[in-house]
Amino acid sequence: MRLFVAAELSEELLEALAQTSALLRESVHGHYVAPDSFHVTLAFLGEVPESQVDAACEALEQACAGVSAIPVTLAPLGSFGRAKRATLWQGFSRGVDELAGLAGDVRECLVEAGLSFDATLFVPHVTLMRAADLSGGELPMPVMEKGLVRSVTLFSSDLSGDRPRYEALQRVWLEEESDDEYEETYAGWELSGEDAVDYPLLSAQLRALGEGERTRIPVLANASALINETLPDVSWVGFYLADGEGGLELGPFQGKVACTHIAWGKGVCGTAAEQDKTQLVPDVHAFPGHIACDSASRSEVVVPIHQDGEVCGVLDLDSTSLARFTERDATGLEMVVSALEELLPGLR
Ligand code: SME
Repeated sequence: MRLFVAAELSEELLEALAQTSALLRESVHGHYVAPDSFHVTLAFLGEVPESQVDAACEALEQACAGVSAIPVTLAPLGSFGRAKRATLWQGFSRGVDELAGLAGDVRECLVEAGLSFDATLFVPHVTLMRAADLSGGELPMPVMEKGLVRSVTLFSSDLSGDRPRYEALQRVWLEEESDDEYEETYAGWELSGEDAVDYPLLSAQLRALGEGERTRIPVLANASALINETLPDVSWVGFYLADGEGGLELGPFQGKVACTHIAWGKGVCGTAAEQDKTQLVPDVHAFPGHIACDSASRSEVVVPIHQDGEVCGVLDLDSTSLARFTERDATGLEMVVSALEELLPGLR
């Protein structure tokens, strides 16, 4: 039988993915994955003799023993393959490393049990469409949501009908943290009052600002102005760009005079660039090596920007309030940066 191991998502995530899938249906043709089949594949085993199914179930139990449910947040859409027959998926922003760890453990236990699988590099995602025709232009912004990866399941898949049929052969529930811990993890995530920023809208506005432009400076200058106008309680917004000599240099910004050069790996900006990872810093005084351009700055968020697969700069935001930026802001700003990354290849 044909087998795969997948992580399964909590209700709110499945609902958000279904909403995104429904949005896509309005503009993209192709084969849609049925919402009741959404999952994150951890290992694809392919054809396995029935006599080995028990070993696979045991490997799963072993890999997941003592593992906690993983808090995740959904990220923008991604695709691979040819433009007219692409596979379209939604990735994760929070939880990527934990999911990679889980996939690694599952794969290791499968190897120990003498089972083989397709050992492709693991990039956690939920496939929404196959054979998608992406030649029609822009994709809609997906619904962002937070939730948990709750269980890991061994599925058999039957491809003989008109759509794949998955059957759960063994489901292992991950340990749930207490509600308090979950609430703490996501404090500030929910939209709250009129201060809540509509990040999908901000991203769309940024795309519009970039239309017809030929060079980076005007786009980044207006991007910093737009973000500054849109986010409350922010004291500095701007860009540090790769200087071609292994460091970062000051780009367009809004706010007080700032330091002009930052070494790769130094400060919050250099750390984000070096690690290629968003830095959410609730208290800058507690961040080793923080570079204080403005002594009144108390919290900061920095998102790396990519071009041609490399970090080409960062978006940096500061606030004079402690813990001003939340997980929701970090994910939203990653979405904003994705919009910028789409514009960059067309700009000198
Ligand atoms: N605080 C940053 C330096 C840039 S300013 O905040 C504008 C850092 O530690 O990298």
